[in-house]
Amino acid sequence: MKSLTPIRQIDGLRDYVRRQRADGQRVGLVPTMGALHDGHLSLVEAISQQADAVIVSIFVNPTQFAAHEDLDTYPRHETEDLQILATTCATAVFAPSAGEMYPSGFATSVAVEGPAKGLETDMRPHFFAGVGLVVTKLLLQALPDVAIFGEKDYQQLLVIRRIVRDLDIPVEIIGGPIIREADGLAMSSRNAYLSADQRVIAGRLNQILRALAEAADPPDIAEAKAHDALLEAGFSAVDYACIRDAETLAAPDVQTTRRRALIAARLGDIRLIDNMDAR
Ligand code: PAF
Repeated sequence: MKSLTPIRQIDGLRDYVRRQRADGQRVGLVPTMGALHDGHLSLVEAISQQADAVIVSIFVNPTQFAAHEDLDTYPRHETEDLQILATTCATAVFAPSAGEMYPSGFATSVAVEGPAKGLETDMRPHFFAGVGLVVTKLLLQALPDVAIFGEKDYQQLLVIRRIVRDLDIPVEIIGGPIIREADGLAMSSRNAYLSADQRVIAGRLNQILRALAEAADPPDIAEAKAHDALLEAGFSAVDYACIRDAETLAAPDVQTTRRRALIAARLGDIRLIDNMDAR
């Protein structure tokens, strides 16, 4: 089995990419925060169809966590992650320190509106500034031909596409389909926080999402039903349960050709999100 020694420095990453290009290789990037599960591995597999060299980045990005969120307790399993990646098509791992990514005196931000407005931003106002910043940096550091992001974070995917378009970053962005547990729960590193009882309730999220996505009711009625169903299932709060335009995330109107159903709900401190195409 191959073994992957993480590249820690941006110079080392650039050097690796330069060597791949010199060998005529197409380069792919899979940005992650580690604690890898089958959802991440499906992204590695999907990008390997489009790239010869596959770099997986592992970086728990502090700027996308608010002070009260789980930055300190976010699962970090680098040794296991490297062992898992050694069994995949990954050819390199970039795992920089926080100091390498955000040297002292760091003073630049990436502000994005458009698809970043509403939904996640209503609950986590800091989130897309942090994601936008770190993803912009990773893309500029590696300058891959293609990068992949999971559709589980659907709003994040649209935000990243918009940043790449608006800032003319020469990278193709592709979305990877959501990978689910047997009962439909979307895989997420944060699922590790669920107790046995919470895990049972979490399994209902996908059924309620499907009912919302397939509902023949007008969106506001379907959304209210999904909201009530989540609370009845045992979720402690519902951040949103809605049907949106799949391209803009605005409320659907006569221009809308594709719709997306999106839910974010809480089980105590644990926040679960999921989405799917809607009728
Ligand atoms: O989706 C994630 O895991 C993160 O938000 C990302 C895109 C790796 C940026 O830190």
